[in-house]
Amino acid sequence: MLLGRHELKHPLCLAPMEDVADRPFRLLCKEMGADVLYTEFANCEAVIRNVPREVAKMEVTDAERPMGVQVYGSNVAALERAAGMAEAAGADFVDFNAGCWVKKIANRGDGAGLLRDLPRFRAAVAALRRGTQLPVTVKTRLGWDADTIVALEVARMLEDTGVQALTMHCRTRVQGYSGQADWSWLPRIRAVSAIPLIANGDIASAQDAQTCFEYGCDGVMIGRAAIQRPWVFQEIKAIFSTGNSPPEPSLRERVELCIRHLRAHVAFRGVPRGIFSFRRFYGGYLKNVPNIAHLRRDLMTYTDMEQIIERLHAFVDAYEQSE
Ligand SMILES: Cc1cc2nc3c(=O)[nH]c(=O)nc-3n(C[C@H](O)[C@H](O)[C@H](O)COP(=O)(O)O)c2cc1C
Repeated sequence: MLLGRHELKHPLCLAPMEDVADRPFRLLCKEMGADVLYTEFANCEAVIRNVPREVAKMEVTDAERPMGVQVYGSNVAALERAAGMAEAAGADFVDFNAGCWVKKIANRGDGAGLLRDLPRFRAAVAALRRGTQLPVTVKTRLGWDADTIVALEVARMLEDTGVQALTMHCRTRVQGYSGQADWSWLPRIRAVSAIPLIANGDIASAQDAQTCFEYGCDGVMIGRAAIQRPWVFQEIKAIFSTGNSPPEPSLRERVELCIRHLRAHVAFRGVPRGIFSFRRFYGGYLKNVPNIAHLRRDLMTYTDMEQIIERLHAFVDAYEQSE
């Protein structure tokens, strides 16, 4: 499939994730085998008002390519200008978020709210296309709720609008993150539309990715599993190429990766903000490690990075000695 000008076969994409998939995390996942990256979503109206935090989200560095800049909103004039700004910021393609389920966004008709108004959805995509020479892709959900699934109409509409690829998070807006993603919609979408299709929702293993490819998808997108295990991308690639699971990283390898991520995160976000915001990542790196209540408490209270690193090293040393 093509993303931007990049020809990719069965790419493993890192999902856009607000407050998680910032540059340090994206680069870490790329090093771990992610083929395509996306920015956190930027609000088109804030972007055109030059709100610094939103404009900064759009920045693309060469090391991150191929990378999409994701925007959301439904004001066509703002979307058109925001698309041009994404292009100026160095995007390879512009991704449109039509799947955000958060009440404040969806209930005002943006994000997944567009699934209740397809003419407005189409107009928003058309505005993005007018605003940039770059390809436009769309990320959405199956529909607003189980009784109003519009995935097939949306796929046909987007193909007709000239969208380069469709990412489908196989849940409805009402589901949020509850229940299981329903991948059975993927072959149905494939049957009605030739639009390049990226599967999303609950993909966490090579088996999951394989199932989505067998359903006719061109790519897969991984979100929460990458927060838990950023090495999931290389694990999937290793299984696809050798048929065997690589060994799970040791605790020391996981902790060293965590420390590298911590240093990059804090360098990017500054002190103390980065120390606080990194706290959401420890759970993933330390998953299934026994007796970590005290360690976890310390990691949630320490505000000095070197103290955190020392504590992590001491924990691994003690863990290895006890094995
Ligand atoms: C913390 C967090 C932030 C997210 N932010 C965004 C976002 O900015 N844009 C977007 O399209 N989706 C966002 N999502 C949704 C993910 O991209 C993805 O669709 C969802 O997590 C399902 O995939 P998964 O089961 O692999 O996690 C976010 C998800 C999480 C967990």
